[in-house]
Amino acid sequence: MTIQRSVITLEGIGHGFLGRPVLDDVSLTLAPGEIVALVGPSGSGKTTILQIAAGLVEPLSGRVRRGYRRHAVVFQEPRLLPWMSARDNIAYGLRASGEPRRTRREKATRRARDVGLAAAVLDKFPAEMSGGMRQRAAVARALAVDPDLVFFDEPFTAVDVGLKRSLQDLVIEAARREHFAALFVTHDLAEAARIAHRMIVLSAETLRIRAEIPVGALLGREIGERGDRPIFELVEAWSRDPLLAELFAGGREEEP
Ligand SMILES: Nc1ncnc2c1ncn2[C@@H]1O[C@H](COP(=O)(O)OP(=O)(O)OP(=O)(O)O)[C@@H](O)[C@H]1O
Ligand SMILES: [Mg+2]
Repeated sequence: MTIQRSVITLEGIGHGFLGRPVLDDVSLTLAPGEIVALVGPSGSGKTTILQIAAGLVEPLSGRVRRGYRRHAVVFQEPRLLPWMSARDNIAYGLRASGEPRRTRREKATRRARDVGLAAAVLDKFPAEMSGGMRQRAAVARALAVDPDLVFFDEPFTAVDVGLKRSLQDLVIEAARREHFAALFVTHDLAEAARIAHRMIVLSAETLRIRAEIPVGALLGREIGERGDRPIFELVEAWSRDPLLAELFAGGREEEP
C-alpha cells in the first residue's frame, strides 16, 4: 500500500447556511507544494470551502484531514491593524513564536523586502500606505510565519492590472522558493492559469465540483515560465467549454 502524503484533504464536505445548502459532497486534496486554484460563480461556496479548510468554519458533514504545520490566510482586503506600523503588522503573526521582538522585526524586514516593500514604508501606518503597499504587507505577513499551506481568497481582485501581475509574480516566486502549498480562490481565469498547477471548478447549480483541470499539463510549463499568449489561448478555449459555461454566465444573484 502506498501512503500519499497530503497537506490537506477535504472529504465529502457538505455545508449550508440557515437551512440552505451551499456545498454538497465536495472532496479535494492538496499535495505538498501544490497550488490549486478554486474558481466558480459568485455564491458557489468558494470562500466557505476556504474557511472550512482553514478551520474557521465547521462543516455540517464530511471531514478535513490536515497534514500541515502552519497555515496563513491572505484575504481580498489587507486587514492590517491600523494602529501598527507596516513592520509590526508583518511581524504580527510571529508573536506566538516565542522569538524575541528584535528577531521578529528582522524577519518582518526581510519579508517586506521579499514582497517589494521599500524600507521606508516599514515605519508607515496602513493609512499612509497605498492599496498596493497594503496588499504587499498582507502577503508578507502571511509568509512571515513560514507557512506550508497558504489560503488566498481573491487577494488581488481589488488592485489594478499592472500591480496584480507583480503581486502574482511575487506569490509565484515565493511558492517556488519555499514550496508552500496553496488554495487560491480567484474569479480571474487568467490568474488561475498563471499561478496554479491545477484548477478546481465549483458549480453553484450542483453545489459540487464540476471539473478539475490540470492547468500545468495543459500549458506544459512550470508556474513562472508560462507565456502570456498560451495563457490567453487557454482562457479563450475555456470560454467555449460547456463544462465551464457557468463561469461565464455572470454568477448567481442572492435570492430576495
Ligand atoms: N455566514 C453566512 N451566513 C449565511 N449565508 C452565508 C454565510 N456565508 C456565506 N453564505 C452564503 O453561502 C453561499 C456561498 O457563499 P460564499 O461566500 O462561500 O461564496 P463565494 O463562492 O465565495 O462567492 P463570491 O465569489 O461572491 O465571493 C452564498 O449564497 C452566501 O450568501
Ligand atoms: Mg468569496
